[in-house]
Amino acid sequence: MSLINTKKMFEKAYKGGYSIGAFNISDLEQLQGVLRACKEKNSAVIIQASKSAIEYAGINTLVAMVKAASDEIGVDCALHLDHGPNFEMAKKCIDAGFTSVMIDGSHLDYEENVAITKEVVEYAHSKNVSVEAELGVLAGTEDDVTSDVHKFTDPDQAVDFVNRTGVDSLAIAIGTSHGAFKFKGEAKLRFDILESIQAKLPNYPIVLHGASAVDQEIVATANKFGGDIAGAKGIPVEMLRKASSMAVCKINMDTDLRLAMTASMRKFMAENPSQFDPRKYLGAGRDAIQAVVSEKIDIVLGSKDSL
Ligand code: G3H
Ligand code: 13P
Ligand code: ZN
Repeated sequence: MSLINTKKMFEKAYKGGYSIGAFNISDLEQLQGVLRACKEKNSAVIIQASKSAIEYAGINTLVAMVKAASDEIGVDCALHLDHGPNFEMAKKCIDAGFTSVMIDGSHLDYEENVAITKEVVEYAHSKNVSVEAELGVLAGTEDDVTSDVHKFTDPDQAVDFVNRTGVDSLAIAIGTSHGAFKFKGEAKLRFDILESIQAKLPNYPIVLHGASAVDQEIVATANKFGGDIAGAKGIPVEMLRKASSMAVCKINMDTDLRLAMTASMRKFMAENPSQFDPRKYLGAGRDAIQAVVSEKIDIVLGSKDSL
């Protein structure tokens, strides 16, 4: 087993009408939960870490841990930098052993986004590493940058961007957003934009960020056992499945894993007040992640038996 880039995964996913799940991790239990679910479902997967996750865990610890767990559990996976803020961070991850990086220039001026993406693509491709970029702005907070409104991706600009940068996949803004509070009213995604991009860039893999569904039962469990998470709302799973049957080949989910882990650990601790072995409550968190990822593979991604 080894870490792989995303090229073949995306080719197969596009042809097969499914998506690869990209799950954020920053610790051992999250990683094992994700990989165990993928082993159970024989599913391809992308393990991703943000800048803050890398700072939390340590870059070399993360790479070694992902390699070892992939080997031990028996699932080949890609290790991807999520929302890489600059060339230096992307280079650092590539040099440390990541097999895919995102350079997120979505908040920059268009020409600056093209330039920084090209720079990363050139370095990454010389090391056989895949690159994801982003065009358009998701409402909400992306790392340190906050936007109140969506700036939907312009399909013609997407074509120009891909042609000029040579980037391997493109994250687009069609109405998803990061975190647990995505819609106040009815959920709405701009499938017309996705359709137009797909028509203008045939066979090209598109990425959807901010794609957690925010299961209300899981939120209720967290709240029942001492949590205080009000008004959380995610993307309906039918919309995500529709996107994954189209040009979307990578779907990013972090919030749903955080909610599931937190809810199950709160429940475990409330029901086992005398227990203080971390393996017991962290183990409950790990099992919850496995269950959520397993469900995502079935009802959102359609990636069962894609390994
Ligand atoms: O899109 C952002 C991811 O959910 C990562 O979040 O920066 O808190 O690790 P983070
Ligand atoms: P969620 O917050 O919807 O899980 O999105 C995560 C994400 O896009 C990571 O890049
Ligand atoms: Zn994201």
